[in-house]
Amino acid sequence: MQTTQHYQAAFLEHLKTFTFAKEPKNLYDPIHYILELGGKRLRPVLTLMTAEIFNCDYKKALDAALSIEVFHNFSLVHDDIMDAAPLRRGKQTVHEKWDLNTGILSGDAMLIMAYQLFENYDAHVFSALAKLFSKTALEVCEGQQYDVDFETRDDVTIPEYLKMIEYKTAVLVGAAMKMGAIVADASEEEQEKIYEFGRLLGIAFQLQDDYLDAFGDPETFGKQVGGDIIENKKTYLYLKALEFSNASDSHQLRQLFSVNLEDNSDKIESIKAFFISTGSAEATQEEIKNYTNKAFTVLDTLMVSNDKKESLKAFGTDLMNRKV
Ligand code: IPE
Ligand code: MN
Ligand code: MN
Repeated sequence: MQTTQHYQAAFLEHLKTFTFAKEPKNLYDPIHYILELGGKRLRPVLTLMTAEIFNCDYKKALDAALSIEVFHNFSLVHDDIMDAAPLRRGKQTVHEKWDLNTGILSGDAMLIMAYQLFENYDAHVFSALAKLFSKTALEVCEGQQYDVDFETRDDVTIPEYLKMIEYKTAVLVGAAMKMGAIVADASEEEQEKIYEFGRLLGIAFQLQDDYLDAFGDPETFGKQVGGDIIENKKTYLYLKALEFSNASDSHQLRQLFSVNLEDNSDKIESIKAFFISTGSAEATQEEIKNYTNKAFTVLDTLMVSNDKKESLKAFGTDLMNRKV
């Protein structure tokens, strides 16, 4: 196994082969812009790590890793349109820097390019990757639709929320890892276990994302802090705050989450105070730990060496403690 930094660097080298200038510029420039904005490269690193966990040279998994990252960035371009987000990774979002139509079409092209990358694999690997990819991509769309539907619903439950984040985020983390296992020709049983590990880690990841959306440091977070509150997103923080509130607090919370304001700074501050005073912020941190530990339990059942398991655990622990 290599270090996370090594996988990141190898991935970035490979990315360079993908982002060379192409015509028409208004289609490809935004694609290269979003892919080169940076980000944690979490998913591609997991693909590469998984290939090595199952005794395969990670270099064979570079195109699968790239496909996952291109798909992920495609979903962000469209998600930022849907969420009216001004910032991504500390920079202007694609639809802000260019315009709405550019975001739509460049996003579409990225989805196609993500599929195209599987053509670099032999027929049986191609077919396994494409099958997993189609299933996952459709689930991500389902998750995104639930997310949007929940903005205007006031009766969202925690199980519904957990299903929504599983679909919009966690299945892609699971798939990123399973792709590494597919390229490595791991057994079906191992493929399923590593998928499950990734899925559980992905749920912890999205819970942490929601937490940071409210409590992240605006200097380093890279997205608009409070964006979920502005959009009335029914996150775990919000749902737990409701659960822990008395009647008058819960009335006030619901009231605040039913409006769309011009100036949101007071709303954000009041809601964050509720998240803390109700104990919801703390409960969210607990749940992040729970899901991370559940993921580690699955890891223990894998038939791979302990040092490999430890690498994945270290990765998961870092993820849980991240600030961006
Ligand atoms: C994004 O979810 C999920 C997908 C792009 C599929 P969010 O809307 O919660 O993510 P951020 O906060 O914009 O990154
Ligand atoms: Mn978003
Ligand atoms: Mn969204």
